[in-house]
Amino acid sequence: MHFCLLNIYQLSMKKTFTTIVGLSTLLSINTFGQNVLPIPAVVEGSSITLTLDEGVTEFYPGVETNTMGANGALLGPTLILNQGDDVSIEVVNQLEDTTTIHWHGLHVAPSHDGGPHSIILPGTSWNPQFTVLDKAGTYWYHPHLHMRTAEHVTRGIAGFILVRDDEEAGLGLPLNYGVDEFPIAIQTRAFDADGQLVVETNLDTAVVVNGVVDPHIDMPAQVVRLRLLNGATQRVMELGFSDDRTFHVIGTDGGLLSAPVALDRYRLAPGQRVDVLVDLGADEGQDVQLMCYGSELPNAYYGAAQPGMGAGQTSSLTGYTLNPLNGGDFNVLEIHVVAATANPITNIPESLASLTPIAESEADQTRNLTFSSASSMMNLNGPFLINGASFDMETINYNIPLNHTEIWSLTNQTPIAHPFHIHDVQFYILDINGATPPPALQGLNDVVLVPGMMGNVRFIAQFSDHADPNVPYMYHCHMLYHEDGGMMGQFLVTDPNNVSEFEQSIAGHWSFFPNPTTGELTIRTEFPDKFTVFNLQGQEVISFLVDGTYSTELHLEAGVYMLSDSSGRSSRLVVQ
Ligand code: C2O
Ligand code: CU
Ligand code: CU
Repeated sequence: MHFCLLNIYQLSMKKTFTTIVGLSTLLSINTFGQNVLPIPAVVEGSSITLTLDEGVTEFYPGVETNTMGANGALLGPTLILNQGDDVSIEVVNQLEDTTTIHWHGLHVAPSHDGGPHSIILPGTSWNPQFTVLDKAGTYWYHPHLHMRTAEHVTRGIAGFILVRDDEEAGLGLPLNYGVDEFPIAIQTRAFDADGQLVVETNLDTAVVVNGVVDPHIDMPAQVVRLRLLNGATQRVMELGFSDDRTFHVIGTDGGLLSAPVALDRYRLAPGQRVDVLVDLGADEGQDVQLMCYGSELPNAYYGAAQPGMGAGQTSSLTGYTLNPLNGGDFNVLEIHVVAATANPITNIPESLASLTPIAESEADQTRNLTFSSASSMMNLNGPFLINGASFDMETINYNIPLNHTEIWSLTNQTPIAHPFHIHDVQFYILDINGATPPPALQGLNDVVLVPGMMGNVRFIAQFSDHADPNVPYMYHCHMLYHEDGGMMGQFLVTDPNNVSEFEQSIAGHWSFFPNPTTGELTIRTEFPDKFTVFNLQGQEVISFLVDGTYSTELHLEAGVYMLSDSSGRSSRLVVQ
């Protein structure tokens, strides 16, 4: 199917029209406020099912785009969890592809965290279970398949996780989902001439919010709460409102700040969330736009007019300067302010959560991580390296003793800022380029933008509660092409007092050892079953029928595999 290309980009609110020619493979027809912003359905409770499947989405009228979603054709429901709850999630993979689902920001055990070691084969399901240990905050979930995270996220799988707790309930904050509290996932996408999503490109000219382009929403004339997620694959967003009004940041990645911070711009990097209060009390009958001010983004941030610092650097990112969003100011969401609800929230609280920052003196250790380009210093394309190395599934980069408190010092030798993300923990930022972070970055975070050109960030975190001698946690750049390109590493958290996890037991009915193995493998099962070894691309490597106890010699290349029973219950298997 073909249709005619209309490349009209409307930038800077309703005043400026820029006509782009030459982007013949892309399509975007941007007219404001055509589509009502969808508010994702809520899933709550202790037993949750997420079914991943392919679907079709009409981003543009009459254009059928193939997408992926959880419990629907695109994106996924919002999981609302309460601190302290025990949650069991059945992730059913009805995709034609292997994938994983990661609970970004949640403090869960590594084998339930959904990183690239926890693959879900097509037609099988994965059943992570955890107690919600996190503070009230805005978290999210998305696929994390080795080298293919950008693909699966771009094609549409992502959703919010809102954690509630008692402390938050007592603060008088908007908590009425979809009424005065709005989850807003901001993404940018590229479409080809057939209306299909393009995965790896710098021509992400369409702004997609909660899965629609050109959205508008009615919000009541009172204090409303926006939970903003930057779910883009690369773009840093400088967010604000069209009338430059002040808003109040009340929380970041890992929960609420100790007090609201009044700002008129907020820089949100890929992977990050920010929780803001906006007072619309005097605005009934008016419209205000949530905007992204690309023109105000300094050079060396992806999304600025120049992604790098020096002359000539844009040329290394194909199409970058043709994309009007880069360095441009564009509309994210049009807000029509309507009558207030009954019992509206009308005040911004003075204080919020009690936070207990970790003193630098409490650190057991400092680790230094340096980001560099694989080729020349000035390269903006990547691949990028951490400590000179590209991600290797078989290499554990760090071994962290359980309950260790550590400072990670991140130094960026590349010409572009990278949003660094770590699994397992929420951290406190100690300093950015040697200076105390601004008040809005003094809470808990799991992503931090490390400025380019020798920028440095130090954070401190404690690695508590979860240890596993076998399954690592990941850290990586949250620009997904950088992550997929190898700007990632992994660490084990191990319990020095419990080293005897010799035999791994899976769901009670079977177990195996040793793991890691140099070749020999013993499987014990309570009833006859077929066991299959897969590589982490989901390809079958070898299988055997087992009744009782079975020992064999695997003749496999060193690497990481998955051992699965016939119903898809599986474990990571390391061959050395
Ligand atoms: Cu949001 Cu390792 O990811
Ligand atoms: Cu994560
Ligand atoms: Cu990066």
